[in-house]
Amino acid sequence: MSRLIVPEPVVELAGIRKMYRSGSIEFEALRGVDITINQGEYVAVIGPSGSGKSTLMNILGCLDNPSDGTYLLGGEDVSTMSEAQLAHVRNRRIGFVFQQFNLLTSLPAWRNVELPLIYAGIGRAERRERSIRALERVGLGDRVENRPGELSGGQQQRVAVARALVSEPDIILADEPTGNLDSVSTEAVLGLLDELHHSGRTIVLITHEHEVAARAQRNLVIRDGQITSDELVAA
Ligand SMILES: Nc1ncnc2c1ncn2[C@@H]1O[C@H](COP(=O)(O)OP(=O)(O)OP(=O)(O)O)[C@@H](O)[C@H]1O
Ligand SMILES: [Mg+2]
Repeated sequence: MSRLIVPEPVVELAGIRKMYRSGSIEFEALRGVDITINQGEYVAVIGPSGSGKSTLMNILGCLDNPSDGTYLLGGEDVSTMSEAQLAHVRNRRIGFVFQQFNLLTSLPAWRNVELPLIYAGIGRAERRERSIRALERVGLGDRVENRPGELSGGQQQRVAVARALVSEPDIILADEPTGNLDSVSTEAVLGLLDELHHSGRTIVLITHEHEVAARAQRNLVIRDGQITSDELVAA
């Protein structure tokens, strides 16, 4: 007998607004965003510069609070979580990949990758082993001791992907992960995201490039702080 698989929402945003205030000037970067993302979905958020993509990602990643609206992450209302609970969610459930890599330049690759495991309280030997395994997975098994400055941009971004996946988070949030990369490195990073998706992770990929967005299953278009289109990508 076949079992009906009911999709589980991991992210439920309702009426999300974000106001930024600079002096006396207020700017509404998100103007009522409603999005539900189910477990295992691969979603691209596409939109022009200034449309609110990074603002949305910061809220999804619990790095910033919405000014209004509700955000349920795994069914739990983020606004009711303590700072400690939020830190736990960020470290255990979410893996981040940023456009500017955000690597610590004084640390070798594997020490960058182990950071989420330090926050998760995992012991030293296991951290090193898992970090090296994550670097092998992104094709950098021979670069574990190199510092970011000794790596190409594409390699640095792969270190960042290794850091995002080392704690085996349910959700990967990637903000323009290929924005600074050439076409070969772009393909390598997108291939890794495909693999993570196939291994059951939920992926939210932010991009302004249509070819990149086409790799996802679903495309959300954001304009002036509002979702203007939500479509499945033709296979
Ligand atoms: N801290 C802030 N204070 C004031 N305004 C802000 C702040 N951060 C972002 N904004 C404004 O909010 C709007 C959305 O910014 P956001 O960074 O989310 O855009 P984006 O879609 O990520 O753009 P890009 O493609 O250039 O990265 C922009 O108009 C921006 O100027
Ligand atoms: Mg941005």
